[in-house]
Amino acid sequence: MRQFPDGFLWGASTAGHQVEGNNTNSDLWFLELLPETIFKEPSGVACNSYELWETDLDVAASLGLNAYRFSIEWARIEPERGVYSAEALAHYSAIVDGCRARGLEPIVTYNHFVAPLWFTAGGGWLRADAPAIFAEYCTVVTQAIGDRVTWFMTMNEPNIRNILNYAGLPHFLHGLLVNMLKAAETKLGVEKFRGVQFFLPEDNDAMRASLAAGHVAGRAAIKEVAPHAMVGLGVAMMDDVAIGEAPMLGAKRRDCYETWFELAKDDDFVGVQNYSRSMFGPEGLLPVPEGSPKNGGGEETYPPSLANCVRYAHEQTGVPVFITEHGLNTTNDRHRAEFIVASLAFLHDVIEEGLPVIGYCHWSLLDNFEWVGGYEPKFGLVAVDDISLERSVKESGLVYGMIARANGLALAGLEPAHAL
Ligand code: BGC
Repeated sequence: MRQFPDGFLWGASTAGHQVEGNNTNSDLWFLELLPETIFKEPSGVACNSYELWETDLDVAASLGLNAYRFSIEWARIEPERGVYSAEALAHYSAIVDGCRARGLEPIVTYNHFVAPLWFTAGGGWLRADAPAIFAEYCTVVTQAIGDRVTWFMTMNEPNIRNILNYAGLPHFLHGLLVNMLKAAETKLGVEKFRGVQFFLPEDNDAMRASLAAGHVAGRAAIKEVAPHAMVGLGVAMMDDVAIGEAPMLGAKRRDCYETWFELAKDDDFVGVQNYSRSMFGPEGLLPVPEGSPKNGGGEETYPPSLANCVRYAHEQTGVPVFITEHGLNTTNDRHRAEFIVASLAFLHDVIEEGLPVIGYCHWSLLDNFEWVGGYEPKFGLVAVDDISLERSVKESGLVYGMIARANGLALAGLEPAHAL
């Protein structure tokens, strides 16, 4: 019997743009529809969760979860600079109430990659006033929902681009990105169009500094309105392994994690978001070992990776860890179920060692819009029909729900060897 601590949060994660649909005032909506887009397809109506959010909460609660992570779409709240939508604020406030009514602890992300078009078209995080603008938005949202929320994330994976730089992506993607950004600038008649996922290598340091300042300002704004708030951010992490001398590993850690772990020391938790591991040798990134299972993105599926990231994040920050994302891109749902069970067994070992872990949120509740990959990658515990948008719980959802209900891996047949 692998029992998790009392009060452990078992959640599933979503992000506004990926599930809501029709996020028409956002930077990504604009990019997705550009002829020069690098998106496989536009987000369109997505899972229509802006309208079907109650269905989604019902599904999450029916699985047996006690937490739900979702994000607020800044472009809906502030469609024009300084103009705040009462309708959108009321909408997210209703979701918070809906969570509470169903026994789901809301975990709210204020910025999950997507921004209003006016923000990104004005240089995005490269604008000198970006942290202050973001903090203002945080204040407005917290005034609307802060009294009923404990767990806040200012932003999701501000280090995503850095992580991708070490993932061995083909160079031609850079050319396509430059082309898309130039086309966006020309069409809008602006000088710099920059988003968290989409900027140029020369923007890196300024982006990082501004996002870091944005986190600090956002955190202060949230706490000012809601002094009880527990605030952190979600860090994209790979379980990075050195095989012999691996100078690139040290460089990667400095580039991808240092800033965010430093900031997390003053946060209430560090959000760990992990999907895979990567191995480095003397020449850099190594291929996935022969015979290892891979996810739909070609990365290694390695159940101990989550536990290893949790250990590393805690060692670097000293603060409690909240697993705000972990999942598997696969059309083989049996693999997802096995991956969850095996990964949680390793996570349990970490908790037994005494590391403070607040909860685990699986990515994702629903099959959804997977950014440039469109709707092809499948991460959901719950499938969404392409046409009717009807939700149907997958086997992995049932398995994960049983674990959540039992608050542990107690079920016969669900405690396999620590591997797939
Ligand atoms: C992001 C999610 C994304 C997931 C799977 C994370 O980097 O936060 O938005 O869908 O990975 O790719």
